[in-house]
Amino acid sequence: MSQPKARVLFVDDDANLLDSMRRQFVGEYEVHSAQNAAEALEILAPGPPFTVLVSDLRMPGMDGIQFLAQAAELYPDTVRILLTGFADLNNAVEAVNQGFIFRFLSKPCPPEALDKALAEAVRQHGLVEAQRENYSLKRFKRLLEGIVDGFSALVEARDPYLAGHQSRVAALTLAMARKLKFSADDLEILRIAALLHDIGKIYVPADFLNRPGVLRDEEFSVIKMHPEVGYGILKNLGEDWPVAIIIRQHHERMDGSGYPHGLSGADIDKGARLIAVADVVDAMCSHRPYRPSLGIEAALAEIEKGCGVRYEERAVEVCLRLFREEGFQFPTVENPF
Ligand SMILES: [Fe+2]
Repeated sequence: MSQPKARVLFVDDDANLLDSMRRQFVGEYEVHSAQNAAEALEILAPGPPFTVLVSDLRMPGMDGIQFLAQAAELYPDTVRILLTGFADLNNAVEAVNQGFIFRFLSKPCPPEALDKALAEAVRQHGLVEAQRENYSLKRFKRLLEGIVDGFSALVEARDPYLAGHQSRVAALTLAMARKLKFSADDLEILRIAALLHDIGKIYVPADFLNRPGVLRDEEFSVIKMHPEVGYGILKNLGEDWPVAIIIRQHHERMDGSGYPHGLSGADIDKGARLIAVADVVDAMCSHRPYRPSLGIEAALAEIEKGCGVRYEERAVEVCLRLFREEGFQFPTVENPF
């Protein structure tokens, strides 16, 4: 899709000059013109915002500086250029210093000078817009992080044995993924998927989760629905964010012995294969209603035993290396409530 043309408004009480500027730039920009400030404000006010305003200083009624100051209040990102005669130099300098003006050009202005100033103004506008977009993206990212953390805490609040589990799984999964050189985008997706991987447990009655004894088959089959329920909750994130797929597959095993679909090998998402390993390690290290913590060595022995069978080989190798050689430790997760 081609970029829309930059919108430029020329304001000058000299009709001939206005006409020559229009002819000079009409192919390059979307050109508008006005013969005084009042007319210019009428064109300007309804939007969309102009990219650049070029205004004469001396005009009957409102002068160029007042006009550009008012325009700046309406659309602060629009870049403003002032055309002035030599005698008005002090006024122009003042306007620049007050921030109303990006450039001033002295009249009569050679076409090349105006052309150059306009090109620079359009570039400046692009920079300001990019900065604003970047700021909005950062704010949006913080919002998303807050929502993900909130939902993560929500599902854990129902099950005291789950407290901090998803954050610890996220920390280990990301450490593994970094070692395996996952891309920045994949890391972002994986972080969210790990923090929400058990979100489907919201569907499981709290009584099943907290009960110390052995669960009946039908109770266990309800628990086993949580990856599919989690998928259902998040599937609308769309293909760009395969968080739901990863959540659906975090209990699948490389040899097809997992659930809910008995997928195997390459049919399992590469992120889900990492979460599967991190999930088992943290689960075995944590207390459960039906048993105390088994400790990190037992957890590492379990993934080592299943290496290349139930668990992906490279995921197990990198996990063992992190714990045994690089001193990885699960973070202490504060209770948010
Ligand atoms: Fe799970």
